[in-house]
Amino acid sequence: MPNNPFEYRLLARGEDFVNREKELKEIIQTVKSGQNITIYSPRRYGKSSLIKESLEGLEKERITAYIDFNRVNSVSDLADHLISSITMNAYSSAEKGFSFLKETVLSLRPTFTPTEDGGVTVSVKMVEEEKDLEKALQYPQKVAEKKEMDIVIAMDEFQRINTLNGDDLQRLLRSVIQEQDKVTYLFSGSQVSMLKEMFESGDKPFFKSTKVMKLDKIPIEDFKEYVVENFQETGVQIEKEMVGEIFDITEGHPMRTKQLCFEIWNRKRSDDEKVSVQEILQVMIENDIYIEEIWESIRSAVQRRTLKALAEDKNLYSHETIEEHELKSASHVQRSLKSLERKGIIFEEEIVDPFLKEWIKRLSQ
Ligand SMILES: Nc1ncnc2c1ncn2[C@@H]1O[C@H](COP(=O)(O)OP(=O)(O)OP(=O)(O)O)[C@@H](O)[C@H]1O
Ligand SMILES: [Mg+2]
Repeated sequence: MPNNPFEYRLLARGEDFVNREKELKEIIQTVKSGQNITIYSPRRYGKSSLIKESLEGLEKERITAYIDFNRVNSVSDLADHLISSITMNAYSSAEKGFSFLKETVLSLRPTFTPTEDGGVTVSVKMVEEEKDLEKALQYPQKVAEKKEMDIVIAMDEFQRINTLNGDDLQRLLRSVIQEQDKVTYLFSGSQVSMLKEMFESGDKPFFKSTKVMKLDKIPIEDFKEYVVENFQETGVQIEKEMVGEIFDITEGHPMRTKQLCFEIWNRKRSDDEKVSVQEILQVMIENDIYIEEIWESIRSAVQRRTLKALAEDKNLYSHETIEEHELKSASHVQRSLKSLERKGIIFEEEIVDPFLKEWIKRLSQ
C-alpha cells in the first residue's frame, strides 16, 4: 500500500518541492554573484524547504552550511553550530578538518567525537565570549581561503538573533560579514515585522547590504496539478470539484493545503463512502490546539472583532464594517492590524492561517 504522499510535517524536497523555480533561480544567482539575500514570509510558507533546495543547487560550487536559529539558544551555541557545520561540510576527511580547526580556533576548545555510524561530530566551547565569538564568526572566511572555495551560510529564523545577546552580536556579525569576500549569507525569517525593524532601524541597518525576497504562497495552478497527480499516482480517486474546494479553503497555503490533502487521502483510502471536505475540515479545526491558543492569546476585543471582519472578507475601512463589527474607527482598525501582524497572525491584511480563518468564521455562526 503506498504511503500518504501529503506528509506535511516534513520539508518539501526534490519531487515534492512544487514550483518556486523563479525564486530558486534568483537565490542561486544572487549567491553566486556574492550578494547576501534575505527571504521572508509568514510561517509555514516554505522558507526552510526553499533554502535547503537552494543550498543543494549550490553544493557543487560552494561549501554550504545551514543554521537553524530555532536551535540556537546562546552565543556559544551559535559558535558551535557555525563551526561544526562548516567543518563537516568542508572536509571529507575528519582529521584534516580537525587539524585546521585546532590551528584556527584552538581557544574555542574544539572536540571531536566519533559517532556510532562511523562519522564524526565536531563541537566547540566558548571560554571568553567576546574574543571567541569573533573568532567563530571569522572562521568561515578562513576555511574558504584555505580550501579555495566560496562558502554560503544559511541562517534560518534569523530574527531569533534578537533573543541572544541582541545588539552586540548583530553589530559584530555585521562588521565581520562586511570583511568576508568569500562567504555569502542567506538569511530568512518568519517574524516579518521584526525583520523589518532590523532592516529599517537607523543605527543597525542589518539588511541594507542584502537583497530582500518576499516569499508568496505557491501558485495555485501548479499546486493543484501536484495534488491531482499525487492522488492519481497512489491510486486514490479525487473529483475535480473536491480539489477546487480544497483550494478555495487553503488558497494555496503550503502547509495547510498538504495537511488537508493528507486527511482527505487517508479518509478516501480507508473507506470509499463519500467524504466531504467540509466535514473533514470541521474535525481538523476542532482538534487543532494551536488555533484555540492563538485566539486566546488575543486579549483585545477590537482585535478579535477585526479578525472576525477579516475572516468574512469585509472591507475593514468602510463605515458599514466599522459599525457592524464595532471596530470604533479606522485608526483603531489600523492599530489592531499592526498588532496582529506583529504576532504573525495576519500578513498584508489577510489572516495567514486558512484554518484559523475558517474557525473564526464558524465562531460567529
Ligand atoms: N515548494 C513546496 N512544495 C510543496 N510543499 C511545500 C513547498 N514548500 C513548503 N511546502 C510544505 O509546506 C510546509 C512548510 O514548509 P517549510 O517548513 O519549508 O516552511 P517554513 O516557512 O520554513 O515554515 P516555518 O515557519 O515553520 O519555519 C511543509 O509541509 C512543506 O512540505
Ligand atoms: Mg522554517
